Amino acid sequence: MSNEASGKDTLTVRDNRTGQDYEIPITDGTIAAKDLGQIKVGDDQPGLATYDPGFVNTASCRSAVTYIDGDQGILEYRGYPIEQLAEKSNFLEVAYLLIHGALPTKAEYDAWVHEITYHTFVHENVKSFMEGFRYDAHPMGMLMASTGALSTFYPDARNITDADNRHMQIVRMIAKMPTLGAWSFRHAQGKPFVYPDNDLGYTANFLSMLFKMSEKKFEADERLVKALDVLFILHADHEQNASTNAVRSVGSTQVDPYSAVAAGVGALFGPLHGGANEAVLRMLRRIGSKENIPAFIAGVKDGNEKLMGFGHRVYKNYDPRAKIIKKSAEDVFEVTGTNPLLDIAKELEKIALEDEYFVKRKLYPNVDFYSGLIYEAFQFPPEMFTVLFAIGRTPGWLAQWLELVQDKDQKIARPKQIYTGDRRLTFAPASERWA
Ligand code: ACO
Repeated sequence: MSNEASGKDTLTVRDNRTGQDYEIPITDGTIAAKDLGQIKVGDDQPGLATYDPGFVNTASCRSAVTYIDGDQGILEYRGYPIEQLAEKSNFLEVAYLLIHGALPTKAEYDAWVHEITYHTFVHENVKSFMEGFRYDAHPMGMLMASTGALSTFYPDARNITDADNRHMQIVRMIAKMPTLGAWSFRHAQGKPFVYPDNDLGYTANFLSMLFKMSEKKFEADERLVKALDVLFILHADHEQNASTNAVRSVGSTQVDPYSAVAAGVGALFGPLHGGANEAVLRMLRRIGSKENIPAFIAGVKDGNEKLMGFGHRVYKNYDPRAKIIKKSAEDVFEVTGTNPLLDIAKELEKIALEDEYFVKRKLYPNVDFYSGLIYEAFQFPPEMFTVLFAIGRTPGWLAQWLELVQDKDQKIARPKQIYTGDRRLTFAPASERWA
């Protein structure tokens, strides 16, 4: 093979088992895995495949929803930078953008907000079955189960080829997620469920369903409403993350969207995905005061433990969401009174960002470094943190599901395996084996 560049958008592969060369097209920086299938040692032999647990270097779809550049620290929804959306938009407008692919006109926005607002109620039977959970049920388990159960209330959701029908289910799901999330929280607290208040905006209504007691109307401080709304925006999508991949994988069977989103909630429940912010809080508490930071950092550098809330598989720069959250944390503490853990977190960040160990490894604060502090200021117990993430992520899951079901390239998600077990054993019935 020559070392010279031919300028062609192809990959030349020599199979050293056979000496044969293959030319494979490169499109958008990828080769199609199926093109490797032609590489065989014999006509009756299987074609070459790739082995990629966790899809570390495999694109599973084409998507126009979210763009991330991890080296530069860029995150854009439908082309709009996250910083601008967090500062100037609101969660429902961002949800519209993610689902529809473009910003709404005034009339479209009003209609969208109206639709979502008037679908926040759930069937009374949902309330009864949620009451049936054990007194200490984890709210994420309750959210996952009740999201999936919505498919039994809306059997028409199975008709995923009809655009109007898809729209209806998307509206229902974005509208009802806060109701299900808030009721999961109230159940664990032994408090009565609060019905949605249609006079309130999306996030203010969520806070009302969470915290309202005997007062006629619950109106949260506007600054807290804004901070939570921003957190929802920051979590609204993150391209092919584990839970979105779960939604797409289950959705590829053409099941209804409630079942697909329930799978996403399940994936988010895992500590490797939705749970790091809780670990950050535990770490900050353990450090206890600024004086203890140098000793803690020394322990991290010795490999004894990790600096939780730092580092990211994709971002090798400051996670753009962490910057926005840090500012939100300050706004929230203005209302709730400061938390000494915030000072420890800021000092920890400052020291780590100047330390060669972290600089060399490109370890920066991620979205979870400050989010737990904000959630705690709202007086959410740690089990609720992931529920908040799920409510924020719902428009992203649905935008990706919508893209999936309309994508002609998509097939049922069914990976290959490399079989490592026994073959052709002879089965003896139990009566012989145990004789
Ligand atoms: N503290 C100290 N060292 C770290 C940290 C950290 N938080 N993160 C990575 N490193 C070190 C690793 O030990 C490794 O060092 P080495 O090269 O000397 O072996 C190097 O940096 C590269 O780290 P990897 O583990 O290869 O990075 P990877 O991309 O696999 O992991 C991850 C990313 C899991 C997020 C990791 O940075 C981590 O565990 N961070 C702490 C947990 C956390 O905050 N998770 C939330 C992520 S955001 C989200 O999921 C919403």
